[in-house]
Amino acid sequence: MNLKDLYINFFISKGHKQIPSAPVVPENDPTVLFNTAGMQPLIPYLLGQPHPYGTRLVDYQKCIRLTDLDVVGDPTHHTFFEMLGNWSLGDYFKEESIAWSFEFLTSILKIPVERLAVTVFEGNEDIPRDEVSAGIWKKLGIEESKIAYLGVDDNFWIAGESGPCGGDTEIFYWRSLDPVPDFFDPEDDRWVEIWNNVFMQYHKSVDGIVTELPKKNVDTGMGVERVVAILEGVDDNYQTSIWKDTIHKIEEISGISYQDAKVSMRIIADHLRTSVFIAADEAGIRPSNTDQGYILRRLIRRAIRHAKKLNIDINSDWEEQIASTIMDQYQSYYHEIEKNRETVLSVLKEEKNKFNRTLEKGLKEFEREISHLQTDKIPAEVAFHLYDTYGFPIELTEELASEKGITVDTEGFQVKFKEHQAKSRAGSVQKFKGGLSGDGEMETKYHTATHLLNAALKVVVSKDVHQKGSNITPERMRFDFSCDHKLTDEEKEKTQALVNEWIEAGLDVVVTEMPKEEAIKSGAECMFIDKYPDIVTVYSIGEVSKELCGGPHVKNTSELGHFRIQKEEASSAGVRRIKAVLE
Ligand code: ALA
Repeated sequence: MNLKDLYINFFISKGHKQIPSAPVVPENDPTVLFNTAGMQPLIPYLLGQPHPYGTRLVDYQKCIRLTDLDVVGDPTHHTFFEMLGNWSLGDYFKEESIAWSFEFLTSILKIPVERLAVTVFEGNEDIPRDEVSAGIWKKLGIEESKIAYLGVDDNFWIAGESGPCGGDTEIFYWRSLDPVPDFFDPEDDRWVEIWNNVFMQYHKSVDGIVTELPKKNVDTGMGVERVVAILEGVDDNYQTSIWKDTIHKIEEISGISYQDAKVSMRIIADHLRTSVFIAADEAGIRPSNTDQGYILRRLIRRAIRHAKKLNIDINSDWEEQIASTIMDQYQSYYHEIEKNRETVLSVLKEEKNKFNRTLEKGLKEFEREISHLQTDKIPAEVAFHLYDTYGFPIELTEELASEKGITVDTEGFQVKFKEHQAKSRAGSVQKFKGGLSGDGEMETKYHTATHLLNAALKVVVSKDVHQKGSNITPERMRFDFSCDHKLTDEEKEKTQALVNEWIEAGLDVVVTEMPKEEAIKSGAECMFIDKYPDIVTVYSIGEVSKELCGGPHVKNTSELGHFRIQKEEASSAGVRRIKAVLE
């Protein structure tokens, strides 16, 4: 049995319910581009909202971390990875959490206890030293010399700048053929972190104010790629069973052995896997020059460039073969991979064809430019020209430059890029800043407004309109929906008028819990059916709307104010986007 199944089964045996992996593109969090940790989709529940599955949860979650993008190519970094997690929402705390981690590692994975060491939080002015966790570890058989006390920088966990947080205990494994030392030195990189158990009992507001959460939670995270490498006894993650088929496929297509082209093969494998997961996501992300679409473009183009380095015939179906190998491996775990297989392949192919047209010329242009360069820095104009005319993401130009031992004036490029963006009014840099969105008063109102808009579109435009995504900030809402045409002015006006009519009618918003089947039968609207548990919460607004939803919502539509559609535009093929405000 593989690690994911072992993990899920183990925690189910400890009373946990398995929850499905959330989409890799967050549905209601405009502040991050991608889910970066298993806890991210669970934030409302960690903050106190009851979770429909109960208080003990377990899952494997798709994560994308862009901080490691530039170092992909080494043996251990990835842009996409799967995180195993188990949670207590005000249920068990340190005692059970630590004991179960220990049991899973030593009894199920059969890791010898001598190869384990742990860190615990040494405390600060607000929180005491975590003698409780240290005591539990000792009781289980971890020697005192294998326990290190570390401060806020190492043993306090928060996603970004604000949100639920707490001290943690991290578990390390001795990943080396050298004998295990008697004393644990967390600075020695032969000790690698494999699991992080966060005792999440605080909330840090955006102003930095720390308060106790209503309940004490546990949030844990374990990276699949790293632990599989340990279990299989290899130092290079790309030589594990996770990557075996993909690397083999690249060897077969290129006729080159992995040993001779490790860096390019890792980049192709990693970037195509991440691209597959972004393109397969229900959010419908397509390559573009902004936000998630830009990341997708950058990943595909970098993979293409490295395929070219391996002398792969770019016009062949190489990307399809590799992506298919990846999808074969994951489709039983992620239904969207199976469902959107053809879409993924066509997204990759289209972007490849687009880039192919200019890549060759762009590379020649790059060579020509650097051949008469007077300095060792590529000027901003040249980098921008490569971007604008040949579609070279700045990071690609930087990579090409570094291979020649020179640099790029990226700051100058950013200035030019921003001027260009301001002109074309594209993109929101805002999103790259990190941090988490709250459930503030305005967000709650917008959340209810999305239900009304969804219902109004069904009345005015077509009953076949379905929600494809939404994105809420305190200032505005964005709503994506399936629709085969651009809305006419009349449709927009009628939709807006109907939403306002419902707001003025002062309809009550009522929440009920019921079995999923019953909810679906009663005609409740829902976006991703597989994502919901057996018992669901359904929000009804008067007689006009009924949706499966986690909330939160206002109590009565009269709280919303006036609703105004600012813009209606294409989002992706067959998907339209409405931007609207409450005034
Ligand atoms: N949220 C914790 C982490 O990502 C478990 O490490």
